[in-house]
Amino acid sequence: MKTIVCKTYEEMSTRAAEIVADVMKANPSCVLGLATGSTPVGMYKKLIDMNRAGEIDFSAVTTVNLDEYYPISPENDQSYRYFMNDNLFNHVNIDKTKTFVPDGTAADPHEACAAYEALVKRVGPADIQVLGIGQNGHIGFNEPDSALEVETHVTGLTESTIKANARFFASIEDVPTQALTMGIGTILSAKKIIILANGAAKAEAVKKMLAGKLDTSCPASMLNLHSDVTVICDEVAMD
Ligand code: F6R
Repeated sequence: MKTIVCKTYEEMSTRAAEIVADVMKANPSCVLGLATGSTPVGMYKKLIDMNRAGEIDFSAVTTVNLDEYYPISPENDQSYRYFMNDNLFNHVNIDKTKTFVPDGTAADPHEACAAYEALVKRVGPADIQVLGIGQNGHIGFNEPDSALEVETHVTGLTESTIKANARFFASIEDVPTQALTMGIGTILSAKKIIILANGAAKAEAVKKMLAGKLDTSCPASMLNLHSDVTVICDEVAMD
C-alpha cells in the first residue's frame, strides 16, 4: 500500500480531494464510492470549493456510499443519506438521482442489501472508493470477526463502534445497533481506493492494516489484496 503522511488534517483533506478530483477530471461520468464519518468532512469541503471554482464538475457523476444505519429514515439527521446531502450533495452540481446510499427504511433489509449489491455491480465498479477506518480496524461497517462478508449485508455494530458513534447522537441508546454495509468484496471491486485516518485513536488500527497480514480482526488489512490503495494519514495516526 502507498502511504501519504501529512502534517495536518487540512493537508490530508487537500491531498485526498486532489486524488478524487483527478479521477473526476479523467472521467467526468465516473463512479465515486463515498464514506461518511468525521474523517472525510474536510475532503468534502475541498471538493465543494473546487466545484464552486469550476475546477470539477459533478453533473455526470454517480456515487455509491458504503453503508447506512438500520433502521433509519433519510430525514433523520444522523442517517448517512442526510450526512451526504448535508456535507456534499446539497452544495455541488450533482444529480441526486444518481447518488446511492443503502436503504435504511427497507422492510426487508436483506433484500435491500442484495438490491444494493446488484446496483453497485450495475453502475460500478467505483472508479475510486474513499474509506475511513474505525478504531477497531473496521471499513464500512465490516467489523472484526472470525469471518468477513464478501457482499453487501446486514450487520450488528460492535459495542466499541456504538460507543465511538454515540458522540453524534443525543444518547448512546439512540445509536442504531444494525447497519447495511458493502462487504469486503464490494469494497475491493473499486478500481482505486484511498483510506483516510487521523488522530492517535486510529494508530493501532493503521499499524495492523499495514502489518502485511490478512487479519479478520482488522478488516482494513484486507485492503492488502488490492493493487491500488493509498493510505492518507497524519503523523499521529502513523505513529
Ligand atoms: C462511514 C464508515 C465507517 C467510518 C469509520 C471512521 O461510512 O463506513 O467505517 O469510516 O467508522 O469514522 P470516523 O471518520 O468518524 O472516525
